[in-house]
Amino acid sequence: MCGIIAAITQRNIIDILTKGLKKLEYRGYDSSGLAIINNEKNIVRIRCVGKVNKLINKVNKKKIFGTIGVAHTRWATHGIVSKENTHPHISSNIIVVHNGILENDALLRDFLKTQGYIFRSNTDTEVIAHLLHWEQNKTKHSIKNVIQDSVNKLHGNYSMVVIDKNNPLELIAVCSKSPLIIGLGIGENFIASDQIALLNITKRFMYLEDGDIAVIKKKDINIFNKNDFIIHRKEIFSNIKYKTVKKGKYRHYMEKEIYEQPVSIKNTLENRLNKNNTINFLELGKQEDVLFCKIEHIHIVACGTSYNAAMVSKYWFESLTNTPCDVEIASEFSSRTLAARKNSFLITISQSGETADTLSALRQSKKLKYLGNLTICNMEGSTLVKESDYYLSTNAGIEIGVASTKSFTTQLTVLLMLVAKIANLKKINNIEKKIVKNLNMLPNRITEILENKQLIKNIATQLFNKKHMLFIGRGEYYPIAMEGALKLKEISYIHAEAYAAGELKHGPLALIDKDIPVIVIAPKNTLLEKIKKNIKEISSRSGLIYVFSDQTFNYEENVNFITLPYVETFIAPIFYTIPLQLLAYYIALNKNKNIDKPRHLAKSVTVE
Ligand code: F6R
Repeated sequence: MCGIIAAITQRNIIDILTKGLKKLEYRGYDSSGLAIINNEKNIVRIRCVGKVNKLINKVNKKKIFGTIGVAHTRWATHGIVSKENTHPHISSNIIVVHNGILENDALLRDFLKTQGYIFRSNTDTEVIAHLLHWEQNKTKHSIKNVIQDSVNKLHGNYSMVVIDKNNPLELIAVCSKSPLIIGLGIGENFIASDQIALLNITKRFMYLEDGDIAVIKKKDINIFNKNDFIIHRKEIFSNIKYKTVKKGKYRHYMEKEIYEQPVSIKNTLENRLNKNNTINFLELGKQEDVLFCKIEHIHIVACGTSYNAAMVSKYWFESLTNTPCDVEIASEFSSRTLAARKNSFLITISQSGETADTLSALRQSKKLKYLGNLTICNMEGSTLVKESDYYLSTNAGIEIGVASTKSFTTQLTVLLMLVAKIANLKKINNIEKKIVKNLNMLPNRITEILENKQLIKNIATQLFNKKHMLFIGRGEYYPIAMEGALKLKEISYIHAEAYAAGELKHGPLALIDKDIPVIVIAPKNTLLEKIKKNIKEISSRSGLIYVFSDQTFNYEENVNFITLPYVETFIAPIFYTIPLQLLAYYIALNKNKNIDKPRHLAKSVTVE
């Protein structure tokens, strides 16, 4: 949450900071700001509430110049959305931008007030700025040493970049369990929360690790731990193409990402499907088979859309590999006293690999006797990947739209491959081959449905002014209904809830009237007859029904059919996700909502 970019350069940094901020806006867009040291060695700070474009307009009018500076896009945690709470925060000569949460800010604030500091914001970041200033005044140390002395007093997971106006030749970056990446230039260097902010200026990067304090100058970089020992971090070359993060012909990133799914899934499958219809996960190494054979229970932990993917896989793991599987919301996993089952294996799922709740669950799991842990993640180099025993990449490519789309379907693709692999190791006949055959068809089947978007567009025009909607499904289509409802609520702000179809009669049926459309996901399978009964229960109570199915059945006028082609069983849940994504997208488009940046949300949720 919150995006940081900073630079020390030969040229004017304004363009670097503002372009970088635009790329980081997915991390928070409540307000943004920047601060530079200008030619006269003064601090120039510009901040404003709202989207980064507003800041850019303001900055452009001022025509400022500087070769060292920091910028920040905020997702409010401490204090309301206001200019005063917007970063950078300044205490005399100290400038700070910060991502994450300081847990002991109240105590430090009280202390600093007794030392005469006046607070202009409610943020924990201003506490850090004043603390560093107080410490520097007391010790007269360099800002790097002051930071080394102060980090023990700062409790929480955070990252920050600091400039001391009195030494405008270096940026100091601190990484405490929240990501920061250094971008290496020629005679200039950069730092950001995500490499995406720097891809237009460099391809060479260095990830900071927990506890690192980096001193970044124009021509050199030194990384220290808090005991002042120099640490070496590996330089990596990014293959991500800058072009791939542009919207291209699409109106929104979400639309682009929905349409990218056939290609993303192909990338997910690439080099993992063998010609003899078996699966290989070369990246897991040789231990994989031995380890997987021992698994007697699978525990999956994730949040939001990633949680919904996990829920689908629970049905797969249990029915296809005969392995008991429990799925848990990460924040709940970390909120209770856990008892791990015998020979249980932990899986985390995350697009960003930085979700604080999921990370915290992983860290907590290490105190228990799991066989091991694996993460299914889209971001190589993310904290979750670094801290996990095993990693399977979803290879979805960068996802910018705050509402996850291609992440979800590629997560399901990896999970289905994992199911196939475990079924094979458990000698469950033919499952692996059947799954591989199905997976090979998946990209084309998705293209087919994307080409028929008009069908969904028409329904969106009928539904966009509704206030509430229900989504129902049975079996693995229940979590698909959950994902459909989540997509709709987050980008259209329509209240949407998902239910297991059989559960409706246990309470929610009372809600049914002609104003609450019910979306039913009902492909032909062994549960179809049961869900038909649920449809009857709704239609006989005058509910307005939209059935997504490869079948039509004779019903009253209030039942509308969205007829989809038949799709092979294993991949059908992935396939049925697409029309629901499109439905949410076109409803939000009709409502003229800010689809890529829904209110109050951020793409990467790095606070618990
Ligand atoms: C919904 C959405 C969120 C994320 C959740 C977890 O469209 O994007 O619900 O799925 O915040 O994020 P990751 O997968 O990055 O851990």
